[in-house]
Amino acid sequence: MFSLSKHCLRRSGQWIRSYSTEKAVFLDQKQLEALEELQSIAMTEIPVPSSVAEPVVRSSPEAAFGRKRIGAVSLPRPLIQGIAELIEENDKRLIRTDALRLYESLRSTSRIPTHLPDYDNGSSSSSSSSHGKSKKRQAAYQEPHTLAYGPRESIAYAAGVLPSTYAATMNVLAEISHRIADFAPKSILDFGTGPGTALWAAQEVFSDLQSYVGVDLSEDMLNIAERLQANLSPYANMEFKRYLGAVVPNAPKPDLVVSAFTIGDLPSQALQRSIVDQLWEHAGDILVLVDRGTPIGFSNIARARQWILDQHKDDVHVVAPCPHDRPCPLLYSPDARPDAFWCHFSQRVQRPPFLMKTKHSKFNLEDSKYAYVVLRRGSRSKAESSHDDLPEAAYTWPRLIQPPLKKHGHVVMDVCAKEGEIQRMVIPKSQGKIPYRDARKAAWGDLFPHPSKNKVVTRVSKGVSDNDRVVNSDGVVKVE
Ligand SMILES: C[S@@+](CC[C@H](N)C(=O)[O-])C[C@H]1O[C@@H](n2cnc3c(N)ncnc32)[C@H](O)[C@@H]1O
Repeated sequence: MFSLSKHCLRRSGQWIRSYSTEKAVFLDQKQLEALEELQSIAMTEIPVPSSVAEPVVRSSPEAAFGRKRIGAVSLPRPLIQGIAELIEENDKRLIRTDALRLYESLRSTSRIPTHLPDYDNGSSSSSSSSHGKSKKRQAAYQEPHTLAYGPRESIAYAAGVLPSTYAATMNVLAEISHRIADFAPKSILDFGTGPGTALWAAQEVFSDLQSYVGVDLSEDMLNIAERLQANLSPYANMEFKRYLGAVVPNAPKPDLVVSAFTIGDLPSQALQRSIVDQLWEHAGDILVLVDRGTPIGFSNIARARQWILDQHKDDVHVVAPCPHDRPCPLLYSPDARPDAFWCHFSQRVQRPPFLMKTKHSKFNLEDSKYAYVVLRRGSRSKAESSHDDLPEAAYTWPRLIQPPLKKHGHVVMDVCAKEGEIQRMVIPKSQGKIPYRDARKAAWGDLFPHPSKNKVVTRVSKGVSDNDRVVNSDGVVKVE
């Protein structure tokens, strides 16, 4: 007995449909073979002539490789559970009050301190509109104040800030793993680990990790970090300590050193320099610095980057975000205005329930803004040596430092280019299907592989570091 499906045969047209039946029929061997043949024809995809088929333009492999976005980040369940338990054991009202204090402190330290125009003595513009603006600026101005992480602040940090710093760190580590496929760190050191944020992110990205060190001045933060880690699996090789300590000669160094959202907490630029130096000394291969996506966070990163590049010229290169090792144009160019235009990126994070409660918010998503740099040992020329391979070629592709403007028939992108300057590129439809499609799909933070066929415009000229400035005997400053 054989039952034939109407639906199946209808797909292949009229002639076959005339055989279709819902009734059971009995067939002999010959009929059965003929029917099988018919069925195989029916199930075969009939090729559409190329003249009729719509050509599908897909992103180029280069553009796919240069993509930085990873979608909304969710925190690992054991981490969410651990923080939720911590909150349960404490006074939730107090946690919210402390979190609000933290947010205010972060806001107050986000802008580069500048002299505010004193509108009362008329030193700023006398027009009424700028008078109003200046009044507003004064009203918005907050005296910078930083907080020390005691027991209350540490819990408030885990309950109200950690998801955002976790997401940013996650994006940066994911980018490293994507860009340098053979980088499989076995050991990590996280300086200013707080509740162990970067250690959690690193465990998600790098599966070969075996040894973890978290350093933090705050005993209370370390207690939370240890407790949260115990929620996952008690790692044999996990150490939490308050001080970095000196590099032990001939001892193996951690492959990956991370310091996230911490250099901005160091009270002076001299201390920032000294810590960044020590972190570089500790790094066996890669050093990652992340800070807030504010003008001040960006400046901290750009200065730290320049400091390492100046000190270790031939033994260091920038993996990301910059496609060059020149001074950052957004801080060191004569045209730079880092309080108005600075390099930073954004990562979306899924707010865990505890964060929504801490913030009294109904929205379950937020965007984490961050600035970062990834420095690796070895010279840049070695890293860029083979240009026919995507990872190597990507070292020189321009990076979108703002969301692109997707206009009718063209896409405008502000990029940091390999020349060490900020350029405006325009990719018109007439440049070709693939570059145009790649441009329309491009997003803030991506590396873009196609040069523009139009002339690019320099928005911010090359940076000049202090080391490049030479003052001659007449006191004239020259750039080397
Ligand atoms: C804003 S939290 C960042 C925590 C974590 N890295 C994150 O991304 O969520 C800064 C941490 O740096 C620590 N810190 C500040 N100065 C430090 C120092 N000199 N040595 C070690 N840790 C320090 C603070 O105690 C605090 O836990």
